Amino acid sequence: MTHDSSNSPRKLRSRAWFDDPSNADMTALYLERYMNFGISLDELQSGRPIIGIAQTGSDLSPCNRHHLVLAERVRDGIREAGGIAIEFPVHPIQETGKRPTAGLDRNLAYLGLVETLYGYPIDGVVLTTGCDKTTPACLMAAATVNIPAISLSVGPMLNGWHKGERTGSGTIVWKARELLAAGEIDYQGFIKLVATSAPSTGFCNTMGTASTMNSLAEVLGMSLPGSAAIPAPYRDRQESAYRTGLQIVEMVAADRKPSDVLTREAFLNAVRVNSAIGGSTNAPIHLNAIARHIGVELDLDDWQAHGRDVPLLVNLQPAGEYLGEDYYRAGGVPAVVAELMRQGLIFEDALTVNGRSIGDNCRDAVIEDEKVIRPYDAPLKEAAGFSVLRGNLFDSAIMKLSVISPEFRERYLSDPTDPDAFEGPVLVFDGPEDYHARIDDPALGVDERTLLIMRGAGPIGYPGAAEVVNMRPPVQLIQKGIHALPCIGDGRQSGTSGSPSILNASPEAAAGGGLALLRTGDRVRIDLRKGTANMLVGDEELAERRAALEASGGFKFPASQTPWQEIQRAINGQAESGAVLEPAVKYQRLAQTFGVP
Ligand code: FES
Ligand code: MG
Repeated sequence: MTHDSSNSPRKLRSRAWFDDPSNADMTALYLERYMNFGISLDELQSGRPIIGIAQTGSDLSPCNRHHLVLAERVRDGIREAGGIAIEFPVHPIQETGKRPTAGLDRNLAYLGLVETLYGYPIDGVVLTTGCDKTTPACLMAAATVNIPAISLSVGPMLNGWHKGERTGSGTIVWKARELLAAGEIDYQGFIKLVATSAPSTGFCNTMGTASTMNSLAEVLGMSLPGSAAIPAPYRDRQESAYRTGLQIVEMVAADRKPSDVLTREAFLNAVRVNSAIGGSTNAPIHLNAIARHIGVELDLDDWQAHGRDVPLLVNLQPAGEYLGEDYYRAGGVPAVVAELMRQGLIFEDALTVNGRSIGDNCRDAVIEDEKVIRPYDAPLKEAAGFSVLRGNLFDSAIMKLSVISPEFRERYLSDPTDPDAFEGPVLVFDGPEDYHARIDDPALGVDERTLLIMRGAGPIGYPGAAEVVNMRPPVQLIQKGIHALPCIGDGRQSGTSGSPSILNASPEAAAGGGLALLRTGDRVRIDLRKGTANMLVGDEELAERRAALEASGGFKFPASQTPWQEIQRAINGQAESGAVLEPAVKYQRLAQTFGVP
């Protein structure tokens, strides 16, 4: 706590609004309006910390809506610990509601929250997290402003059930689609079956991006130990909200800031746990973004070096069988962290919001159900992390090795002289609309050796980057029993998908990446051992194609539909470096750098 070198109590930033005799005019104006809904002058001038509750829940954001209820318990905790709660809205991000993609909204919510935290009398903040991008948006903003901050997961929905079997968010859609196609259910039956996977308030009960990011927020040390996995409707969730309110007031007194918690060690812990939980392929984008805003080095090489060989321990859909309630009952994040700690895979000294190290928080945690959280020596899969590929197609892309099935290995990796490599002709699609329009056209001549390419789906080509790289084969192949072809693309992939895809290619086609030069019929070669992905096209030919592309005005992508799409496209970085708003990165530790305006 280098912030204050004197012995006197540290002056809270909210005093510059509410108690500054040298600026009586403005102080009076600030005070009178915050008093107009009943807060007394005594309270505002008592020296108590003003604690923001950054509210991401609303009717538009069903995944996070329960935070409207939880906020009451957060307030109870804040008040009991001596603080004053001020709740305010965050730009909504509902993954399943926003068109064309919620990928557009993470950086917009980030930007809005930075302005709010910086420009208002807030001494510390409770970040209400949940649905996929709400968690990274909030953590990125807290990193930039660097005032004491704690995240509170809203928690997953209860388990979904249908005829005695668990139905998981996202994953049930694929099964329901087959039943509909087979005529076993009708349109209404289809919708009802899908709805069984969403039986209560809360976020996706599978290990999608929401469960991933809230688990990782806890591993980073930004939320209370054991809190990420508590299902939304459980009483423990209410208690966790209350304890979060108590904790943030203590954090303000201690001046415990995101920069004290979000260290490189904390990020490497999160990279390892991400493999053990079977975390989303969106996690590298979001964690790298948070790291950039706090000023910590973290890149894809770290994901490969520290995460690739960690096994999958958590048996949750889509990789496994179970759902959110089971994960919580089996011990949640602390049980996973403790299991990795016993292997020496956790930096135990990393500080967390409660002032203790992650080692001290998790050391005594045990796995309560080994069917749901496997012990390290009996994992669900070995090497469950990401492999980084590079070559003339892109500077980097990631592949989740754990999704390589025995059938895939048999079909593509069975050359005894070269068991780590495969190659084939490509079929190129320019964006999701092109793919949907053409994939089932028999004239395309797709066979089981074809590699499907999706380009124009990165942060610039498809503003926010579309989750479209998990492409299914044409129906003709599915009827022959081929359910997955290798996919390569500059877009993202849903956290609930399990297809063998090479994704997040950077730079994307729209930013001049090699994918823009690829043509249907070219051959592409992937070597997993060497970590390479190349189109087998000569340098001279590639130079000619590049010249032709540039002469034509560059890679074509659809026009922006809204002002924000245009603005974000102009300043957005690539997936590999977090897809952040590049001009924002230089603004770090605002609360310390610029003081109180
Ligand atoms: Fe919100 Fe899955 S749609 S968490
Ligand atoms: Mg998603």
